[in-house]
Amino acid sequence: MKKQFIDKFLEIYGEGEEAKVYFAPGRVNLIGEHTDYNGGHVFPCAITVGTYAVARRREDSLIRMYSLNYAEKGIVKASLGNLEYRREDDWANYVKGMIQTCIRKGCQISFGLDILYYGDIPKGLGIGSSASLEVVTGLILKDLMNLTDISMVDIALFSQLAENEYMGMNCGVMDPFTIAMGKRDHAIFLDTSDLSYIYAPLRLPHEKIIITNSKKARVAVDERYQERRSQCEEALRELQTVISIHDLGELTPDVFEEVQEMVKSPIRIRRVRHAVTENQRTIQAVEALEKGNVEEFGQLMNASHRSLKDDYEVSCKELDILVEEAWKIEGVLGSRLMGAGFGGCTISIVKDSAVNEFIDKVGNIYKERTGLQAEFYVVEIGNGATVL
Ligand code: GLA
Repeated sequence: MKKQFIDKFLEIYGEGEEAKVYFAPGRVNLIGEHTDYNGGHVFPCAITVGTYAVARRREDSLIRMYSLNYAEKGIVKASLGNLEYRREDDWANYVKGMIQTCIRKGCQISFGLDILYYGDIPKGLGIGSSASLEVVTGLILKDLMNLTDISMVDIALFSQLAENEYMGMNCGVMDPFTIAMGKRDHAIFLDTSDLSYIYAPLRLPHEKIIITNSKKARVAVDERYQERRSQCEEALRELQTVISIHDLGELTPDVFEEVQEMVKSPIRIRRVRHAVTENQRTIQAVEALEKGNVEEFGQLMNASHRSLKDDYEVSCKELDILVEEAWKIEGVLGSRLMGAGFGGCTISIVKDSAVNEFIDKVGNIYKERTGLQAEFYVVEIGNGATVL
């Protein structure tokens, strides 16, 4: 595979200095949804599909980018002196945004680059494809420009900044952090308030993690995501008039009970209730997994879905059908919507013996009820971004 990518690179860009191959994964999130911008906990892992890149330095300051996934767009060109967002550059804006952010954060980038990309993350799922593209680009810069004082956590933060400021998507840190820092067979228990984390062995000896693509397009996800964020920020300001907290993640359910009347709208109360209870569930879920109690872990996932649906209101009919049909199957330990919501995918933990039944039954009933053909992926947990 590595040789094929290099051959393709040489075919597109011609001979030159030796090219190197890089990889950054996608991510799934077991539990802890919409907590990463509220200073709460998340429990994601890197997966074995992701973004491959072949890159080499140039003598001049030109940046040339080519994606095998968007071959019809040909080579997209920019330069170190001009990395402005251009709508027609489409996918390549993520790359330019990452390079520009790194420069802005003080990275010494003195050479141009030729880069070939290929991603095998299925489209439309919301499993971190843009962060994967940014983080692999950050790794290329770190490696080829000898940025020895830049850590992988720095790269994750630059990726988040590129999304927030260059792409205008106000996401949290979960996706790039997981992609930069993931570890095979482990999930990351990350406290997004201070980025402290531990690697928890993912002990699922008789179960599979299955991602189900609803094929429901994620409609206006950026706007609705931003709306949830703003509601949380406003509720935080209301609560700060009576308690000294920096983030909703600092609230325990008991304290929230006591002070919730400070939040002056029922919608915002529901939003905070999700942020608080989801954070709590995430902490409990990690404890349950440590004890080997996969059943409890699954039940917390189910409770997460209910909270995302009723309190945070980021589900939709299609995701609810997928989850409710999954719950009916014995051998499904837990199932919930995953990621931002409003379409995209669900994540389920399914006993090995029930995997076929799960795929058949959920797939068929979903088709009957929505007319859509769901797609199922059994996930393998892989490493974070790496030089191959
Ligand atoms: C998207 C964002 C993440 C996170 C999730 C919801 O995937 O990119 O930062 O907020 O939504 O948990």
